[in-house]
Amino acid sequence: MPPDLPVGIHDLSFATSSLVLTHTELSKHTGANVAKYHTGIGQKAMSVPAADEDIVTMAADAAAPVITRHGTGRIRTLLFATETSIDQSKAAGVYLHSLLRLPSAIRVVELKQACYSGTAALQFAAALVARNPEEQVLVLASDIASYDLDSPGEATQGAAAVAMLVSAKPALVELCPATGLHTDDIADFWRPNYRSTAVVDGKKSAAAYLAAVDGAWRDYQARGGLPLEQLRTVCYHQPFTRMAFKAHQQLTNAAGIKSSNKAIESTIAPTTRYNETIGNSYTASLYLALAAVLDGNDTLGEETIGFFSYGSGSVAEFFAGRVVPGYGDRLRTRAHRETIARRRPIDYAAYLKLREHPLPHDGGMHLIPRQTQGNFRLCGISNHQRLYEVVGPLSA
Ligand code: CAA
Repeated sequence: MPPDLPVGIHDLSFATSSLVLTHTELSKHTGANVAKYHTGIGQKAMSVPAADEDIVTMAADAAAPVITRHGTGRIRTLLFATETSIDQSKAAGVYLHSLLRLPSAIRVVELKQACYSGTAALQFAAALVARNPEEQVLVLASDIASYDLDSPGEATQGAAAVAMLVSAKPALVELCPATGLHTDDIADFWRPNYRSTAVVDGKKSAAAYLAAVDGAWRDYQARGGLPLEQLRTVCYHQPFTRMAFKAHQQLTNAAGIKSSNKAIESTIAPTTRYNETIGNSYTASLYLALAAVLDGNDTLGEETIGFFSYGSGSVAEFFAGRVVPGYGDRLRTRAHRETIARRRPIDYAAYLKLREHPLPHDGGMHLIPRQTQGNFRLCGISNHQRLYEVVGPLSA
C-alpha cells in the first residue's frame, strides 16, 4: 500500500427521532426564562424518541441510505458506538445485520466510552482500512441523551444517529494522521448499569471538558499536529451548542491566539446548526457538527477542519481532516434537513408520558403501536428480546 493513500469518511448520513420538544415548551414547565436555553446554553429544541424508536432504529435509518448508495460488498466490519446500550451482551450492531441485510462475512462489535466512542470507532476503522484498502468499515454512532426529570441536565437531552462509511480515497474527508489524546479518571458524568438516566455534576463536567481541550491540544501539538491558524473551523462535541463556543475560547487561549468573542462565534456558528435543534446525541454529536459544516457550504474543498471529541469519565481526542474537493456532489443535505423538519412537536405532557412508560422488564410479550416516521421500528419486546421490523419503503 502506498504510505500516503488517504483514508477517511467516504459517506455520512444521519437520522434523528420522530418527535421534538422545543425549549419554549420546556420553559413553560420549568419556569426558566427561555433566553437561558436559547442563548445561555444555545439550544432551541431537542429530539425525543417515539415509543417504537431506539438506538437501533435510528442507526438503521442513518445507515440505510449509505448501504443503498454503496452496497455491502466491501464492508467487512461494523463498529457501533453508543452510551445508550440496549444489552450487556449482544452488540446493537448485530440487530442492524438483519435489518440492513448485511453479509454474514462481517465482524460486528459495540464500543463504549460515553460520548467519545464514535471517535474511537472512526480511528479504529481508519486503521483497518489502512491495513487493507479494499475493505470498508461502517461506523455507527447512535444515542439517546436522557437525564432525570426536572434536573439541570434535562434541557440538554436529544437523540440522533450518524452512519459513516470509512474507506481509502474517501469522497468527503481525509483523516490527517496526527491525533492528540487525553484521559483522566474523573467522575463528571456516568451511568451505572441499573440506571436509565445519567448521573452528572454539570459544572464539574464542563470544567473537565475544558481541561481535556487543553490536554488533547497539547498532545496534538507535541505529535506534529497542525497550528490552529491552518484549521478553517473546529467541530466540537456539543452537549449543548454553547459548549462549543467555550471550548473554542479555551483552544484559542491554549494556542496563544487572541480572538474576539465575535470571531469565535463566527468560526463556530457553521458547526452548531443541527445540534441546536436536535440536542445532545452523545457519540453522534461531533459528527452532526461535521454534517452541519459540510451541508452548509459546498466551497470547502482542500480546507482542513479540526475535531475535538470528549467523552465524560473521561477520554478526549483532537484530530483534523481535509475536506476532499468535489465533496459537494456527495452530500445528503436535503435528506438531513428533512429528517429534522419532519419531527412532530409534542408538549410537555406528551413528553412526560413517554418518559413514564419505559419498556417492561417482565419477560412477557408487549407490542408497541406504530409512532415512528422512520423505516425501522421497535415493534415489541418478548422474552426479554427487542423485536424490530422494517416498515418503510425498504421493507419491499
Ligand atoms: N439569558 C441568557 N443567559 C442565561 C440566562 C438568561 N435569562 N439565564 C442563565 N443564562 C446562562 C448562564 O449565565 C449560564 O451561562 P454561562 O455558563 O456562560 O455562565 C448558562 O445560561 C447556563 O445557566 P446555568 O449555569 O445556571 O444552568 P444550569 O446550572 O441550570 O445547567 C448545565 C447548565 C450544567 C450545563 C446543565 O444543563 C447540565 O448539567 N447538563 C448536562 C451536563 C453537560 O452537558 N455537561 C457538558 C460537559 S460534559 C460532556 O460534554 C459530555 C456529555 O455529553 C454530557
